[in-house]
Amino acid sequence: MERNRRSWSWPLPLFSVFLIAPLLFSVLIATTSVEARKHHHSYKNTHNRPHTNKHSNHRKGSDSGGFNPPADSATDSTTYNVVSFGARGDGVTDDSQALVGAWKAACQLPGATVKIPSGFRFLMRPVNLQGPCKGELTLQIDGTLLAPSRVGDWPKSSMFQWLNFKWVQNFTIQGSGTVDGQGSQWWTPSSLYYVQVSFLISLKISPTALRFYSSHGVTVRDIRIVNSPQCHLKFDYSGGIKVDNITISSPENSPNTDGIHLQSTRDVEIHHSNIGCGDDCVSIQSGCSNVHLHHINCSPGHGISVGSLGKDKSAACVSNIVVDNISLRNTLAGVRIKTWQGGVGSVKNVSFTNIQVSDVKYPIIIDQFYCDKHRCENQTAAVAISGVKYDQIYGTYTAQPIRLACSTTVPCVDVDVADIQLKPSIAGIPSSASLCWNSYGKSQAPLLPSSIDGCLRRDTAYVKRVARSHEHVC
Ligand SMILES: *[C@@H]1O[C@H](CO)[C@@H](O)[C@H](O)[C@H]1NC(C)=O
Ligand SMILES: *[C@@H]1O[C@H](CO)[C@@H](O)[C@H](O)[C@H]1NC(C)=O
Ligand SMILES: *[C@@H]1O[C@H](CO)[C@@H](O)[C@H](O)[C@H]1NC(C)=O
Ligand SMILES: *[C@@H]1O[C@H](CO)[C@@H](O)[C@H](O)[C@H]1NC(C)=O
Ligand SMILES: *[C@@H]1O[C@H](CO)[C@@H](O)[C@H](O)[C@H]1NC(C)=O
Repeated sequence: MERNRRSWSWPLPLFSVFLIAPLLFSVLIATTSVEARKHHHSYKNTHNRPHTNKHSNHRKGSDSGGFNPPADSATDSTTYNVVSFGARGDGVTDDSQALVGAWKAACQLPGATVKIPSGFRFLMRPVNLQGPCKGELTLQIDGTLLAPSRVGDWPKSSMFQWLNFKWVQNFTIQGSGTVDGQGSQWWTPSSLYYVQVSFLISLKISPTALRFYSSHGVTVRDIRIVNSPQCHLKFDYSGGIKVDNITISSPENSPNTDGIHLQSTRDVEIHHSNIGCGDDCVSIQSGCSNVHLHHINCSPGHGISVGSLGKDKSAACVSNIVVDNISLRNTLAGVRIKTWQGGVGSVKNVSFTNIQVSDVKYPIIIDQFYCDKHRCENQTAAVAISGVKYDQIYGTYTAQPIRLACSTTVPCVDVDVADIQLKPSIAGIPSSASLCWNSYGKSQAPLLPSSIDGCLRRDTAYVKRVARSHEHVC
């Protein structure tokens, strides 16, 4: 399952990653500069446009003839409706320049709103929506945003993400609308898209639907994000993030479609949301700290994941994560920490409390032997895991209730379990034993199955010292 899940996405053996990393980096640079140029160009084309609804009924140089945007009497002069910027909303015409135009105008006015009205379907090619803006800004999505449905319609220079928010501050996305990545073509191995990074080497890439890069004070609420080619909502190098009452949905058989992906992002609260996709519902990656997830339903998917961390001997630092009041149904994992062998750094102070699982394969799992191919070489270095609390984990499992597979050389320490009540989902499933490998900590009743009791070894000063000696990079 998990082992082979990503393997098809790499056209060449993993070692090629080492060779192509610099090349890929240069592709990224090239992509960025192409986008920067495009951006500059489109700015020139749009900055003379009227800046408010009232005066913007006729798009200069527009081919829309006598097209009149619908009256929008409820909105004020701080609302920038994409229709007023030439968007057709017919699901066929590329409306991305209208969105960029509305964004640029709104960005100049503190407290402005960019409006995607209901009753329309706006086809958008990939766009950069860039800050910093003059003040707070809202993107009100009441209609539907559609990504190009055919892989071949994606510009080769923008394969990494669709709606790319960069350097925004104090920004809110809200509304009753839908952001539809139309990703089904990306999910089938037969139509994989490979980016040629050199004569011999190509790499599979598929876009994230909404990405926030280097952004602070961002709220995303109420909207639906569906069918992303890959990750649905991603934050990297960002902070002060709130996600509330959103729905993320893509089918179970959509590979690599994470719900929410956090990387190098701090001070995050994600709550009261429903997430179902083909990969992790929430994935917390290296560089994340102070993340609070609560009141989330996850189904289907791979569960809530810290990691995978430490790939290719990299350093990973994750700390102060609280996951509580989560319900998981029909998922691969419940709450999981996964690291590759050979990485360095640490995962510290993580608590999983009040987790309800139903038909979950592995409700509680630490996997320090994460590997995306047939076999990974054993390594002595490992991301050190300490201070992980599991409390009030209830429900049913289909494979193994608790699996703590810690590095053979670096023990997991201060792993505390209390009030675990897990039953096989169908009577008759062999009650598979709990596994604790090189993991130390305390357990407290009630514990069901009883094999959890005695699974953890008691911490000693010596094992704590061994564990700490590996976490210094953070
Ligand atoms: C964002 O909000 C914070 C806190 O209210 C404020 O200090 C900061 O100046 C704001 N930044 C922008 C660009 O509006
Ligand atoms: C949650 O979002 C839905 C869909 O946009 C909306 O109808 C509902 O009012 C929101 N709930 C809250 C509590 O804001
Ligand atoms: C652990 O994380 C929680 C939640 O972020 C925080 O309140 C607490 O202070 C942290 N504990 C330590 C010892 O850092
Ligand atoms: C989680 O739910 C329990 C009861 O369902 C409640 O007592 C607790 O306050 C909740 N936690 C949070 C952070 O809302
Ligand atoms: C790694 O170590 C484990 C446990 O000692 C052993 O079973 C396995 O065969 C080793 N794998 C490799 C690739 O050497």
